[in-house]
Amino acid sequence: MNDLEKAVSKRRTFAIISHPDAGKTTITEQLLLLGGVIRSAGTVKGKKTGQFATSDWMAIEKQRGISVTSSVMQFDYADKRVNILDTPGHEDFSEDTYRTLMAVDAAVMVIDSAKGIEPQTKKLFKVVKQRGIPIFTFMNKLDRDGREPLDLIAELEDLLSIEGYAMNWPIGMGKDLRGLYDRAQKRIELYRPTDEAHRFLPLDPETGQLTEASDLTEESIYQQTLDDVDLLSEAGNSFDLEKIKTGDQTPVFFGSALTNFGVETFLQSFLEMAPAPSTHEINDDSETLSPVDKHFSGFVFKIQANMNPNHRDRIAFIRICSGEFDKGMDVQLTRTGKKLRLNNATEFMSDERENVEKAVAGDIVGLYDTGNFQIGDSIYTGKNPIKFAPLPQFTPELFMRVTAKNVMKQKSFHKGMQQLVQEGAIQLYKTYTTEDYILGAVGQLQFEVFQFRMKNEYNSEVIMTPIGSRTARWIDPEQLDENMSSSRNLLVKDLKGEPLFLFENAFAERWFQDKYPDVKLTAKL
Ligand code: G4P
Repeated sequence: MNDLEKAVSKRRTFAIISHPDAGKTTITEQLLLLGGVIRSAGTVKGKKTGQFATSDWMAIEKQRGISVTSSVMQFDYADKRVNILDTPGHEDFSEDTYRTLMAVDAAVMVIDSAKGIEPQTKKLFKVVKQRGIPIFTFMNKLDRDGREPLDLIAELEDLLSIEGYAMNWPIGMGKDLRGLYDRAQKRIELYRPTDEAHRFLPLDPETGQLTEASDLTEESIYQQTLDDVDLLSEAGNSFDLEKIKTGDQTPVFFGSALTNFGVETFLQSFLEMAPAPSTHEINDDSETLSPVDKHFSGFVFKIQANMNPNHRDRIAFIRICSGEFDKGMDVQLTRTGKKLRLNNATEFMSDERENVEKAVAGDIVGLYDTGNFQIGDSIYTGKNPIKFAPLPQFTPELFMRVTAKNVMKQKSFHKGMQQLVQEGAIQLYKTYTTEDYILGAVGQLQFEVFQFRMKNEYNSEVIMTPIGSRTARWIDPEQLDENMSSSRNLLVKDLKGEPLFLFENAFAERWFQDKYPDVKLTAKL
């Protein structure tokens, strides 16, 4: 193995997905503690010292109690370089999450064991499944009374159509939580042991029974666990690493993030099973690119302005797909053919941003951007242009007319609009003839964040007038006649200048199609 191969083989890059409140932030925090990046719990969420609170617009997260941004965190653990990409749990930010999922090699799904599979888990799971990457499951909040573990696994298999393999099994739960029966590592992990040295009790690999005398054996809860584990061994799925690699089986871990129980066990197993960066299909699937290719390449999966309010900067997040990143290197941007020197890059070590010198395939780097990048852009070195697969795009369903409250402040209004739209969280349209601004989003919350950020970051108060829910349909400019437009099918153009109609409802669209049967309408360009 050369140095690059060695470095790439140590990378583990993954995202954590969950329904809001399942415990994603809490488990992330525990992982960062284990990685030595933070020193005490409570720093990640909404506290003054945490990276998550360094941006003032994130105050909206605190107000609403939700996680809005996707952040990148990196740490070393057990000779591996771990990259965690956080994703917003709220469904209004699904688009951001979907793109983030394109930049990872595995996903961790956190489930509240009292609630089971919730709607947002299901939605995000589908995307991960489509990507064919491994999915690891953490059944959280075992310190609370939850649902029967067998029931949880059955629901997971049923609703998500994936095999579950329990890596460990709870011994009791809620007030009666005693520990975990670790099937994978053949040991019992005690919950809150009086003495840390006795946290793990070995199991006989053959019989699966405790090898030492313990009070546990007297307890009916423990007997119940043994019965369940027997049942799993006889009637459950068998462990299949090949299926795990393709996302057809998910290893299931139980634990409690809040009390830091089972999290380290999870991390250790995860790092062993999760894949190192693998190949990418490029140039319209005509070629395969190895992560250890000697040429550097990567793609932009996210752009975020003003991460640090003191600097007012814009950062393009790049997933490195091949080779090595060196500070100051020259790359080419596939979309424009433009050459760029990457002088200013940043890595993300949770509590501070460090200036990056070197990163390899699997890593995420943030590039300070002066307007060169768009979401989905590919960059590369070497002679052969590289284009990665396009990132998923959503057609907005909610629309607002937007104007500056203070007409004297047009400059900051336009600047803010332009920059926030470039981040890709919100779509901008203009009415066809009068060029009024119309914003489109997938969820209402995106508008609220937009309005909040315009005020906080650009000092521009905006007036938003809801147009409501609309169906966006593009029309071939050749077929367009401006008289086709009415209040029920508003004619606008997108950022590229392509015309589209915003139909009031399905009825309006049908009416239009009846009237103009030759006109071809498309859902997305
Ligand atoms: P999210 O990022 O997925 O939205 O969830 P988050 O980690 O913020 O957790 C949501 C709530 O669930 C938090 O409580 C958190 O403390 C709690 N929680 C997370 N993991 C566990 C666990 O293992 N056991 C128990 N009992 N609770 C857990 P909160 O009261 O909403 O927020 P906070 O004010 O405590 O931060």
